[in-house]
Amino acid sequence: MIKVLFVCLGNICRSPMAEFIFKDMVNKKQLQSDFYIASAATSTEEIWNGIGNPVYPPAKRELAKHGISCEGKRAVQMKKADYDRYDYLIGMEERNRRNMLRILGSDPEHKVSLLLDYAEQPGDIADPWYTGNFESTYRDVIRGCEGFLKYLENKGEITL
Ligand code: 4NP
Repeated sequence: MIKVLFVCLGNICRSPMAEFIFKDMVNKKQLQSDFYIASAATSTEEIWNGIGNPVYPPAKRELAKHGISCEGKRAVQMKKADYDRYDYLIGMEERNRRNMLRILGSDPEHKVSLLLDYAEQPGDIADPWYTGNFESTYRDVIRGCEGFLKYLENKGEITL
């Protein structure tokens, strides 16, 4: 079982988009039993009295345009204990990586990466909370997730 945690600042836009897009890709390849997939925030911006907000409506609509549901997802904050629970902790931008390492303290097993590290053109996934461009987030997340699946295949962790 490959355990993957996607991480962004608020866990209402990019990381839930990555979670549900990656789940959809994995389902379509009949690989769902090989994976446990979730997402979390580095901040508590979208969590009130312990209850996380649902996925931001424009992000939810962008997923729905592609036939992907994120029903029931609510923001949660990443915890230090997630380091042992997951094999891959994948941020969306450099700022996420810094905040993840602040929560984790260190990354001795090199589990922390950024989603576009797996794409042909690495870089940050811009925050649509500020840019308003959810289509470009969708395209970036697809590039990253496709690259991540290829990476896992090359490592021999899955067979596509
Ligand atoms: P996300 O976007 O990190 O892609 O979920 C954000 C959502 C909310 C906030 C920041 C980023 N916020 O500051 O509330």
